Amino acid sequence: MTQLEKPTSPLFANLDDLEEQARQHLDLASYDFVAGGAGAEQTLRANREAFKKITIMPRVLTGIKEADTSMNLLGQRLSMPLYVTPMANHGVVHSLAEVGSARGAKKAGALFVAPTGSNKTMEEIAAAIKDSPRWFQLYLNKDPEVNKQLLQRAKKAGYSAIVLTVDLPVLGIRDRNVRNSFMLSKDLHRSSVSSERYIAATRSLQSLTTGIKDDLSWDDYEWTRKHTTLPVLVKGILSPEDAEEAAKRKVPAIVVSNHGGRQLDTGFGAIEALRPIVERVKGNTRILFDSGIRRGTDVFKALALGAEAVGVGRPVLWGLALYGAEGVAAVLEHLRAELVNVMRLAGSARLGDITPEYVRLP
Ligand SMILES: Cc1cc2nc3c(=O)[nH]c(=O)nc-3n(C[C@H](O)[C@H](O)[C@H](O)COP(=O)(O)O)c2cc1C
Repeated sequence: MTQLEKPTSPLFANLDDLEEQARQHLDLASYDFVAGGAGAEQTLRANREAFKKITIMPRVLTGIKEADTSMNLLGQRLSMPLYVTPMANHGVVHSLAEVGSARGAKKAGALFVAPTGSNKTMEEIAAAIKDSPRWFQLYLNKDPEVNKQLLQRAKKAGYSAIVLTVDLPVLGIRDRNVRNSFMLSKDLHRSSVSSERYIAATRSLQSLTTGIKDDLSWDDYEWTRKHTTLPVLVKGILSPEDAEEAAKRKVPAIVVSNHGGRQLDTGFGAIEALRPIVERVKGNTRILFDSGIRRGTDVFKALALGAEAVGVGRPVLWGLALYGAEGVAAVLEHLRAELVNVMRLAGSARLGDITPEYVRLP
């Protein structure tokens, strides 16, 4: 094999192959819990389809010899513009749960975002990746005392930002989970909040979300900001109007995302939301992106359209399911290697050089 054909990971050729390996390895209900989306899964499919319709315009004869993927994100030094997006219940696919994924992120030099709905406590996760960059994703609870405690614990455990998820006033209806009568196994619980009386001690997904505040408004954002000294990001914005409101309120960063197609069905591909939002906010808030990232070309396109960094979801859980922490590191390093390859082929040496001129929209 020549050097040019060297695989980016010995474990898989690409992340679709990895998903297929994971499908064969996991039981159907667990695989479907991760892979599935809401309703007829139109939004889920649109996330991938939209990326395919965007094409890349390369520059040549640039004299570039190397591509640098390192960056600073809200004060954190990262080896790549990729982070593990918050996902509840990593324990469905591997006993190490979020601790395994966090270790993998650390190994790859990537940021880990710990979910409220983790199966390990936020302190256990933090202890596993001492000195490594980490943020905490918050689902606001109906009980403000629970929220105050979570915010205090996150700060104490060294999380450097709060990611407030706002696209889950209620859980999307996920047909695969209904079909499989999906239940969390007895030994998996919501570790960070399980001691709280407002989290129902049952195992169905629907009842696990009963503690979540179901009438979120901008006042809740302001409340959260008032109760922590950490920066509070907003995850789950798609409309330019909402993005503009976030910028007006000086939200430090927003995550353009449709929750990986798991919430509102018959939506559009999340990547389609990016450019209109970037144009509307005019640099007044930083922009991150997730939903459908599977290739280095996807990362490149999202950066070209104005995202500063991108979150990776399901592929991380496939890597964890099959190979534990090593698998998570392999997924992130694979995407980074693919990104480097695209940057070299498209002629951009640094992340900051990846501008809209490199892509053609449909
Ligand atoms: C199994 C699973 C659990 C998730 N749980 C959460 C969560 O607790 N909080 C949250 O903000 N987003 C959650 N998400 C959404 C992700 O953060 C992200 O938006 C989505 O997975 C990105 O799409 P991708 O999987 O195509 O990369 C979850 C996604 C998956 C697949």
